[in-house]
Amino acid sequence: LNDFNYDDVYQLDVDLINSNLNQLLNKHENQENVVSQAMRYCILNGGKRLRPVLALEFCKACGKKPEHALPFACALELIHSTSLIQDDLPAMDNAPMRRGQPACHVKFGESVTILASDALSIMAFEVIISDDSLNKFTALKAAKTLVNAIGVDGLVGGQTLDINNENNPIDINALKKIYYMKTGILFHAVAEMGCIAAGASQKKIIAAKNYAEKIGLAFQIVDDILDVTATSKEIGKMPMGDVKRKKTTFPSLIGLDQSRQLVTQLTNEAIDSLETFNQNKIEFLVEFAKRLEARQH
Ligand code: IPE
Ligand code: IPE
Ligand code: MG
Ligand code: MG
Ligand code: MG
Repeated sequence: LNDFNYDDVYQLDVDLINSNLNQLLNKHENQENVVSQAMRYCILNGGKRLRPVLALEFCKACGKKPEHALPFACALELIHSTSLIQDDLPAMDNAPMRRGQPACHVKFGESVTILASDALSIMAFEVIISDDSLNKFTALKAAKTLVNAIGVDGLVGGQTLDINNENNPIDINALKKIYYMKTGILFHAVAEMGCIAAGASQKKIIAAKNYAEKIGLAFQIVDDILDVTATSKEIGKMPMGDVKRKKTTFPSLIGLDQSRQLVTQLTNEAIDSLETFNQNKIEFLVEFAKRLEARQH
């Protein structure tokens, strides 16, 4: 009997994540504070929730209930959303639209936006250290993974290189490095934290990270492709942003066709790296990779 329905599973995960994020935001008093309002605006605004869903699904692929990974999943989405808020600031990509709505700084101004992004990343660690259902050792391991992924050797460092990349032609290896740091490493953390929540073996963690690294790069290349091929209605952000900022991207470096081929190759490699997992537990992860490859938004 196989009653697997990808969309239903995805929606159940999203509901779990959204209701938890909502509770976390409600926990804080000072609801009238404009920074609280900006935080809510940035989190409860219809992100795809790819990273937290993937964290829950890795936990499931390792044989545990998704709820075990829920605090980590929420922390990952909070960090991801923070990175988007900062990424859109005038001093960064200067992007006016995000998730189909005015970017945070357009709606609330820059000072509130900077403070909201700070508060949201602090909240990410609050979730991990104050959830009583979590084993303390597990929480510490997850926090360490997240810290390594988002600091100056990870996301922050990658975003720095990305800004330096404007008006400054670079080669494919330099671009791959930037993409690993600004995007791929967070997918690494997603995979690892999902597995940690399930108490998985090192062997599974390595396989999960291989998968995540491939889909992370594929994901950012598709983001680049959509920047030059999609409409603002489809992607919820202004297209041609990379062109305007004169960034080197995969389409600008190797063209659209080769970029698409590379995405397909990375997707297949990602799926192949799931061999270590129990084959009846990876249906979702296989489909997830395929959907990322074909995504239009
Ligand atoms: C956009 O990420 C930023 C990149 C790393 C390319 P998503 O496409 O996952 O954004 P949301 O969360 O769905 O808005
Ligand atoms: C985003 O890359 C990477 C982050 C860490 C936020 P982009 O700058 O291409 O993301 P979008 O296109 O604005 O979502
Ligand atoms: Mg950017
Ligand atoms: Mg951007
Ligand atoms: Mg982009």
